[in-house]
Amino acid sequence: MINLALIGAGRIGKLHAANIVHRVREASLTVVADAFLNEEMERWARNLGIPKITTNVEEVFTEASVDAVLICSPSPTHEDYIIKAARHGKHIFCEKPIGSDIAKIRQALQVVEESKVKLQVGFVRRFDHNHKRVHDAVRKGEIGEPYLVKITSRDPQLPSMEYLKSSGGIFFDMTIHDFDMARYLAGSDVEEVFAYATVCIDPAIGEFGDFDTAITTMRFKNGMLGVIDNCRQAPYGYDQRTEVHGSKGCVMVENDRPNTAMVCTASGTYGEKFLWFFTERYREAFVAELQAFIESLKNDTEPPVTGLDGLKAVLIAQAADASAREGRPVKVAEA
Ligand SMILES: NC(=O)c1ccc[n+]([C@@H]2O[C@H](COP(=O)([O-])OP(=O)(O)OC[C@H]3O[C@@H](n4cnc5c(N)ncnc54)[C@H](O)[C@@H]3O)[C@@H](O)[C@H]2O)c1
Repeated sequence: MINLALIGAGRIGKLHAANIVHRVREASLTVVADAFLNEEMERWARNLGIPKITTNVEEVFTEASVDAVLICSPSPTHEDYIIKAARHGKHIFCEKPIGSDIAKIRQALQVVEESKVKLQVGFVRRFDHNHKRVHDAVRKGEIGEPYLVKITSRDPQLPSMEYLKSSGGIFFDMTIHDFDMARYLAGSDVEEVFAYATVCIDPAIGEFGDFDTAITTMRFKNGMLGVIDNCRQAPYGYDQRTEVHGSKGCVMVENDRPNTAMVCTASGTYGEKFLWFFTERYREAFVAELQAFIESLKNDTEPPVTGLDGLKAVLIAQAADASAREGRPVKVAEA
């Protein structure tokens, strides 16, 4: 058994906790820490049978029985918690983004390396059955030489304003998943980006300097081109499509739905709505990514998504953010 501790019992923390308790093999959740623990969280953690529930995050690092920590607190806390966990010899699963301050991320990766602990970043979409099939088709040469990557990624609804204000901005919080997906599908790093971003949904988002809608175009180091379209609001459900086009053909995936039945009548054709959000669409992928983390600890192998992958996605986000604000193509810094 690998003993895990959770930091941050919010939306994603609770999802991971339930998966560890009910679905992930050879892992147990022994500590839940949340700096703003409330009665509801305590009740929830007690119902899951967690032995230790605390507001003092430091206890996660000093508790000898903890093998690895899951960092699911707000994004600005990630680098510091990675450093603390590594210095205490704990392996780390960190939610995306790995951070937003490049110097601090580099420092965290250095400490991880020196401490010889493993670090996996939560790019869950790599574990989705659909996107993985696109990836595998490209790697196996089924579409010949790949030319283009196309990603549509739209959330069904805005998160809370409180969440948005501490999220780091659309490129660091939302498109970060797509930047990683783009690298994963293209099998190449991104050389340069040109992004447009705007506020369509709620002017309040613009008031704190963020965007809610964006298009990022990319040039990859292997010569491929890519495009990502994002919007924080899609009332028809979570819109997650990927496509790679190449010399022999293309491979694409549609959105998942509860079933694929189509009702066809004289007045039209209709089917089920798309799955609503990440908790439904990536339900199985969230289990698979944690299982992969546990396997890498047990077998002493490199986690399937590394700290360097985390840094590379942030570097692309940084370039896209600068491009959108300055209206020019921006080279992605070397990792
Ligand atoms: N992989 C994914 O698809 C996915 C989805 C959602 C969120 N996330 C990421 O997970 C992280 C958390 O997002 P969320 O939506 O669960 O947020 P959330 O606001 O729902 O939860 C964050 C939790 O952390 C706690 N917290 C706040 N400051 C803390 C601190 N300093 N130390 C310890 N705990 C603290 C809060 O009380 C809250 O319970 C973010 O980095 C986000 O980008 C990833």
